[in-house]
Amino acid sequence: MSKGLFITATGTDIGKTYVTGLLVKKLRDAGLNAGYYKAALSGAEATADGLLPGDADFVARTAGLPERPEQLVSYIYRTAVSPHLAAQLEGNPVDMSKVKADFKQALAHCDYLTMEGSGGIICPIRWDEQQLMLEDIIRQLGLGTLIVANAALGSINACVLTTFYLQQKGIPIRGIILNNFDAADIMQQDNKKMIEALSGVPVIGCVPYGADELDIDVKLLQSLYHTPEERN
Ligand SMILES: Nc1ncnc2c1ncn2[C@@H]1O[C@H](COP(=O)(O)OP(=O)(O)OP(=O)(O)O)[C@@H](O)[C@H]1O
Ligand SMILES: [Mg+2]
Repeated sequence: MSKGLFITATGTDIGKTYVTGLLVKKLRDAGLNAGYYKAALSGAEATADGLLPGDADFVARTAGLPERPEQLVSYIYRTAVSPHLAAQLEGNPVDMSKVKADFKQALAHCDYLTMEGSGGIICPIRWDEQQLMLEDIIRQLGLGTLIVANAALGSINACVLTTFYLQQKGIPIRGIILNNFDAADIMQQDNKKMIEALSGVPVIGCVPYGADELDIDVKLLQSLYHTPEERN
């Protein structure tokens, strides 16, 4: 039975894609069949071949995925704004039934599917006659989450708030990864300790700037993935 994990973060540009690339690479290097999926991507680059979803391109190149990047994302928008606004400007709003179908197909093609979110945890995905928030997608797909947070000043607030929001929405949290971590920085060491103490969620790994691999045991990574329990 294939398993999934949802990657969220304390905000946009925190390192979801960077960490996901290393995570999928680590699983594949261990001989596991790991894949990637993202429901909605904004700010895609316009190329001669159409819109290029940069996140999927980065993960596919880092982890050596066989698919073309555009096969890994359901909705690709040109404008670099939240998907709900991008769809208001460009059309083609996110349809949950398409996300479910594409997710199911992605899951069928691998054993460990890593799904990347858009932005932080509070992210409107669709806001017209229908309203869809990011947490609705996570809950309906039945996924647990891994939170990527920046290790620097401000991370206690951002990261602990993110855990509280997920808990309030009844979404499981499997762990936290601190990105751009400087092990020699006393404040960052303390951030790790305080985030764990205040949230009750383990920091399962720290990723230094420029890291080209994850220093996390593969068995621990595998344990973060669960069989999704799809809900309505
Ligand atoms: N540990 C790191 N070392 C070096 N560069 C990093 C690291 N983490 C992130 N970056 C860089 O920071 C930028 C933002 O990271 P990334 O694209 O992974 O963020 P994101 O959370 O996926 O953003 P989005 O919300 O747009 O999906 C990218 O240019 C990425 O290459
Ligand atoms: Mg990203």
